[in-house]
Amino acid sequence: MKKQTYTPARSITPEIETLLNKQIVMEGKSSAAYLSMASWCDTQGYEISAEFLYKHSEEERRHMLKLFRYVNAAGGHALQPEVTGIKHEFKSLREVFEQVLFHEIEVTKSINNIVDQCLQIKDFATFNFLQWYVNEQREEETLARRAVEIFDIIGEEGVGLFMIDQEVGKLEAYAARVSGKIGTDRG
Ligand SMILES: [Fe+2]
Ligand SMILES: [Fe+2]
Repeated sequence: MKKQTYTPARSITPEIETLLNKQIVMEGKSSAAYLSMASWCDTQGYEISAEFLYKHSEEERRHMLKLFRYVNAAGGHALQPEVTGIKHEFKSLREVFEQVLFHEIEVTKSINNIVDQCLQIKDFATFNFLQWYVNEQREEETLARRAVEIFDIIGEEGVGLFMIDQEVGKLEAYAARVSGKIGTDRG
């Protein structure tokens, strides 16, 4: 096994620090992407979807900040990510939610990879810290999958898109119900 470089000043290795900084980039990009989607929804009159995405953008920023604080508390240096390449236009509301789903799946893979690395080098503190993200991703994927399903259930013809927008407002309650929670502890 590779030599680990824990020191009295740091409880995470530089390798884990790098991975956590990459995760910071992902959460920062999620926040920016969802904000852009929210804005597009606003311009198209999808008010409830816009609210849903504005709120999610804020949540993603909180996910990023939680990582910032952890990295610095563990003796590393959290880096403000450069966020570029944000998409501003979308073909349809369905495209927006499909992209949310694909994006969340990528985030889950990234979290799982860091969790795996932590186990390999026995960094149980970071492993433990990341369990919050493991649970969060399970919920966020459920939410995003349900959002995409709504398009198939209702259909986009006629008043369909109006109804889909209304249903998006019920997604949080749905995710809480299927994950067996009464309220939510979304971070
Ligand atoms: Fe996140
Ligand atoms: Fe997310």
